[in-house]
Amino acid sequence: MPGTCVIGLQWGDEAKGKLVDILTEEHEIVVRYAGGANAGHTVVSDGQTWKLSIIPSGILRDGVACVVTGGVVLDPAKVIDEMDGLESRGVRMHGKLQLSDRAHVVFPWHVVEDRLLDGSLSGGGAIGTTGRGIGPCYRDKVGRSLAIRLGDLYRPDFRAKVEHVVDFKNRLFANWPGAAPTPLDAAAIHAQYAAYAKRLEPHIADTTAFLLDAVEAGRRLLFEGAQGALLDIDHGTFPYVTSSNSSGVGVSSGAGVPGRWIDRVIGVVKAYSTRVGGGPLPTEQDNATGMHLRERGREYGTVTKRPRRCGWFDAVATRYTARLSGVDELAVMLLDVLGGFDELKICVAYDIDGRRTTQFPSQIADLEKAVPVYETLPGWREELDGVRAETGLPANARRYVDRIAELLGRPVSIVSVGPDRQQTIIRDRTAAARPWHSSQPANA
Ligand code: IMP
Repeated sequence: MPGTCVIGLQWGDEAKGKLVDILTEEHEIVVRYAGGANAGHTVVSDGQTWKLSIIPSGILRDGVACVVTGGVVLDPAKVIDEMDGLESRGVRMHGKLQLSDRAHVVFPWHVVEDRLLDGSLSGGGAIGTTGRGIGPCYRDKVGRSLAIRLGDLYRPDFRAKVEHVVDFKNRLFANWPGAAPTPLDAAAIHAQYAAYAKRLEPHIADTTAFLLDAVEAGRRLLFEGAQGALLDIDHGTFPYVTSSNSSGVGVSSGAGVPGRWIDRVIGVVKAYSTRVGGGPLPTEQDNATGMHLRERGREYGTVTKRPRRCGWFDAVATRYTARLSGVDELAVMLLDVLGGFDELKICVAYDIDGRRTTQFPSQIADLEKAVPVYETLPGWREELDGVRAETGLPANARRYVDRIAELLGRPVSIVSVGPDRQQTIIRDRTAAARPWHSSQPANA
């Protein structure tokens, strides 16, 4: 079976980019299937740092095809920026990158609407979006009448479509309460996007057909999740979510590849919790612990540079998303960040209205009331960034990893102790079921 998925099980930023980069070695095609320029993937390789947003990190490897499917909302200016940045550092794009003609295009009006509407949640409050026009573009996709897909940029009626949408949006903006946004100029937007279209033309493809041919020919595909499962539009912490299916359930619809072609799902977790933007984070530590995690983990948004909210690992939330995403095995990232704590806490249940539960609530009002029930584990003082084998991990670090595996009901097959490719401990599949604490240090 040819398909592997990498899915973030928290609120995004689980260091999926690093893992995808490593796994790319064993795959021929890397597929980005949801989200847009709201995502930020950092890959560190041979001392070089690469920051990618829409283009899969597989682009850094020769012989790997990278596919951005119709489930993605695509901002052409951002993609072109990324292409320019990569090309200026010697990364070849031609013949490697395909962009779906079905992908919906992010236009300037989407960015304006994102700014106007975030903060207008009923009852007050803000989602705290990345401001990249993601939600408004997906809204127009679902609404259909005002949607423009990448393939439309090459049709003779493209200009008429832009004029139609701009006319509608300008009337909407003119009636906006308070300061109305500057009216959109259809001719200028058309000219700008026609130029983008020209630049992107060699990469436009029917990616669904390409991927179906690929799986039927037994080629190995790696599906790269964006954001995390708790931000899933249908199954996440609604309304504080993104606008796509960012959990494992979104792979098939976003890529157009049936689930029967996927045989390995890797759930990626940070060794603690983070969240950017609004919405509940039950284990949040708005204190010295949280600050310590933020500084050690360099927890600042890749896209927006916002400081991330930090807290203890939440096994209730991640057990839910591991089940939801059909996870077979786990990758525990940023374990090194936890060094230096005497004690570590893991949330194993919530108390909601005096009732103890291990079930993740479906309603945001319940999650907002959830009081975490913690289990305390002993910490470790050693720095882990130089560790390259599981026997090099302190016993308490191995116990911590084992407890995550136990609570989530899945083996941990990968542990990451730093941003570089080398700072990764990968177990072979035969070792996966064995507890980490059972492996003895070489000098024991
Ligand atoms: P949007 O996707 O820009 O609409 O933002 C919706 C919510 O998802 C906000 O809370 C964002 O901070 C969050 N979000 C979107 N993309 C990412 C990501 O790549 N990492 C972490 N949070 C994200």
